[in-house]
Amino acid sequence: MTYKKPLQNINLVIIGGTGHLALNKLLPSLYNLWCGHTLNSNTRIILTGQNNFTLEEYHLFIKKNINLDYIKTPKWNDFFKNITYIKLCIQDLTDYLPLKKYLPLDQECVYYMATASEHFTCFCENISKINRNTPLSRIVLEKPLGHDLKSFLYIDEIVKKYFTEKQIYRIDHYLGKETVQNILALRFSNRMFEPLWNNNYIDHIQITVSEETSIEKRRAFYEKTGALKDMVQNHILQLLCLTLMEAPLSQNADMIRNEKLKILRALRYFTIKELPMHVLKGRYCETISAETYVALKIFVDNWRWSGVPIYIRTGKNLKERFSEIYVQFKPIPHSIFDDQKAYQLKPNSFVIRLQPDDNIKLNLMSKVKGTGLSLKPIALNLNTATSDHPSDEAYERILIDIIQNIPTLFMRHDELMASWQWIDHIIDHWHSVPTELYKPQSMGPASSFNFIEKDGFKWHE
Ligand code: BG6
Repeated sequence: MTYKKPLQNINLVIIGGTGHLALNKLLPSLYNLWCGHTLNSNTRIILTGQNNFTLEEYHLFIKKNINLDYIKTPKWNDFFKNITYIKLCIQDLTDYLPLKKYLPLDQECVYYMATASEHFTCFCENISKINRNTPLSRIVLEKPLGHDLKSFLYIDEIVKKYFTEKQIYRIDHYLGKETVQNILALRFSNRMFEPLWNNNYIDHIQITVSEETSIEKRRAFYEKTGALKDMVQNHILQLLCLTLMEAPLSQNADMIRNEKLKILRALRYFTIKELPMHVLKGRYCETISAETYVALKIFVDNWRWSGVPIYIRTGKNLKERFSEIYVQFKPIPHSIFDDQKAYQLKPNSFVIRLQPDDNIKLNLMSKVKGTGLSLKPIALNLNTATSDHPSDEAYERILIDIIQNIPTLFMRHDELMASWQWIDHIIDHWHSVPTELYKPQSMGPASSFNFIEKDGFKWHE
């Protein structure tokens, strides 16, 4: 991604430099920004890890672990000249001392916590002991932030002892995806959606994040997290908020966050008796204890959305990688086309596809050319595809905004509180929902189909 102008000088410190996120998302995104001249040699990138690597050893480690062609090119080697590696055991204060010489007090600095959230508080305490939580610094916190409301509040309280709310960037990289941003653009720069975007016209909504990858490379993390906390608590609830929220007063970060918060607060809470009818859990292998698949049927109880079921599903090791928001309109009230078979009159739908391709489609009915009045479904395609790697672009956009100090794509404290509170009420009775096995590379547990079909709908494939 190329930004209009090169970004200002900054020191970017990535804590967790040997981890999955740094290797698979952050380094490739930084490399792309550097190739597009958005970053230049004035940006110092410091990666930390527990291993006592020399810079050369760290470079070899990266080459072994990043599976991308360009990693062997001279261009990558040029990029790598901007990188410094420091051994840093988060608990060990003496490991922080070398950072001082790289982080002058009068320069902006970003600490990117690409580690599990249990390490955030200790990092903040230690970085303050070396006097590097200056007003010119910011801290970026990766999701999931905590593992329930209580742990989130604890972490948040400690982080706020050392950084102000304005210095804290709580990440959800889905907000950086091109099509996700386009949801706001389409909804609020076109008048035509507004009168239809409510329970008078919308029948139901589906949000799917289906992934082919298994959890093997991140098993330790995933066993502690599971699909509900890894994907629903953050990414999927954020997609839901952008799709359903009222128009914000302006593009200002807090105006958007205020509207998202109202949706999170309107999520319906289920009783223990209702829960098994609204939640389905699956795993693709008996030796995994966490759920790798989850489907939910939820409601947003407000004036606009009352009574509209929203179906969510996400899983690992599924047949296909695709993420989309599918909005199905109600059927026409009466058909004047007597000879049409019922299935030919498909209700309208609006499909916002996030990946693998960026695409937005409006499905309508139209006449078949020729004599008579036969109908067929047609799609109005708003092909927004910009790149073969949309998910990497999300991190590029997020990194640019962090460096530029633009908070719109990041979450506020109260949004996280509301989403954890809602997730907690499900987790409280998690044991009352059985976990079903599904075949790897299938579309999830067998009963996931009946989960939606019993209401008269079908998962959109
Ligand atoms: C991460 C989750 O936040 O998002 C992963 O921890 C998931 O489990 C990933 O695979 C999906 O991101 P993307 O951008 O590849 O859809």
